[in-house]
Amino acid sequence: MASEKHFKYLVLGGGVAAGYAAREFAKHGLQPGELAIISKESVAPYERPALSKGYLAPQNAARLPGFHTCVGSGGEKLLPEWYADKGIELILSTEIVKADLATKTLTSADGATFICEILLIATGSSTIKLTDFGVQGAESNNILYLRDIEDADKLVAAMQAKKDGKAVVVGGGYIGLELGAALKTNNFDVTMVYPEPWCMPRLFTAGIAHFYEGYYASKGINIVKGTVASGFDADANGDVSKVNLKDGRVLDADIVIVGVGGRPLTGLFKGQVEEEKGGLKTDTFFETSVAGVYAIGDVATFPMKLYNEPRRVEHVDHARKSAEQAVKAIKAKETGETAAEYDYLPYFYSRSFEVAWQFYGDNVGETVLFGDNDPATEKAKFGTYWVKDGKVIGVFLEGGSAEENQAIAKVARAQPPAADLEALSKEGLDFASKI
Ligand code: FDA
Ligand code: NAD
Repeated sequence: MASEKHFKYLVLGGGVAAGYAAREFAKHGLQPGELAIISKESVAPYERPALSKGYLAPQNAARLPGFHTCVGSGGEKLLPEWYADKGIELILSTEIVKADLATKTLTSADGATFICEILLIATGSSTIKLTDFGVQGAESNNILYLRDIEDADKLVAAMQAKKDGKAVVVGGGYIGLELGAALKTNNFDVTMVYPEPWCMPRLFTAGIAHFYEGYYASKGINIVKGTVASGFDADANGDVSKVNLKDGRVLDADIVIVGVGGRPLTGLFKGQVEEEKGGLKTDTFFETSVAGVYAIGDVATFPMKLYNEPRRVEHVDHARKSAEQAVKAIKAKETGETAAEYDYLPYFYSRSFEVAWQFYGDNVGETVLFGDNDPATEKAKFGTYWVKDGKVIGVFLEGGSAEENQAIAKVARAQPPAADLEALSKEGLDFASKI
């Protein structure tokens, strides 16, 4: 007979949010057997950002157990033994295929049932695949995606099998930029292809992208903009050999890495819970429209207090903090108290080669470029302010020191007035340092 297990608290998903939720539960005191984490993955929660960075380094590559949560934010590394010590059950390599939110009952692919009092949904995002759009030849070998450690291992194996070969990166977002750099660092001949006029248009202005595109070109990366991959050719083994572009050009390829976006994994809960902006709608405590069911990390659309509107955020800082907030709220409720509201300041970052940027706040309104964004400048330091209704509400900074990054975070939170945009551009980082 298929097994049935009962828990007080269950986290569905074993990624970043799950790891930080477990730590927060443990801080509040847990009885053995009260909490379980169910994950499709075969390993304990880890810091996902490492997969596109340290994991792909040609030397001294990051490997588990080195980057289990919660090392990414400077905290204790939660090894599988830590969960065992705390009496937290890690139910790994287990995919949930059915969820009944009304009874808080989950069913796994092999028919096991899990029932809980409080459910935290932390399923994260899936990867959009070119096969989803029926792109011809997209099922060929060595056309790769990156979401989890299994994908990362496939990529490492392909890099070894096709050593010093040609790589085509499809997509100019986070994955495209980080993987383009990783492949180049591994001595691949890299071409990046994306449809927009500049990379990462969902955050970068033309002025910001000017720097990174020039910098990538100086590292020997070939950039093809304004077109998409319309099909792939494969050799007799089924390995990808060519990328056919919509504009008629053809690129040779031994490896193709695709980063054309993600989708929050909410399909299991369709029709059972309110949704908004593509995510599961929550209150400030990350509780959904179903009492006792919480959504954290990439899947949550929560009230962003600072901007007075619902938002969904697909970044690691929010995954960590939303998990902590939900657990604080759950524990407060148990003692008849109310947790403080979630007052989140958006924080995104990336790094590749020797460059690293941080962004805080909101990227709407007029933009003001400051500093030197010439890609030829060594150790360039430049940034951009976003100004809306006469107030600075977002700041991007490349090459900032720890203090400078703290200063821009402070600006995005304080939203100081800035009436004269030309003066703001001239003042540059000094404006932030004064706040
Ligand atoms: P996350 O994806 O971490 O975890 C979801 C978990 O749920 C996974 O373990 C998954 O297998 C499991 N799951 C899903 N459905 C399931 C089911 N039906 N049954 C069982 N288990 C199921 N952000 C940033 O700010 N800076 C950065 O540098 C990076 N870098 C980065 C690199 C790469 C390669 C990726 C893919 C993503 C990033 N991110 C990032 C984004 C960041 O990692 C992301 O926002 C968080 O991991 C989200 O945390 P969650 O816990 O919500 O999902
Ligand atoms: P993304 O949304 O950042 O970028 C998608 C890019 O795909 C777009 O910029 C566009 O250039 C491109 N695109 C769309 N359709 C295309 C097509 N048909 N052909 C070619 N290009 C096309 O998504 P991503 O880079 O795939 O990242 C996936 C997820 O991982 C996101 O949630 C992201 O936030 C997360 N992530 C974050 C970081 C970070 O924060 N540093 C790093 C890696 C991944």
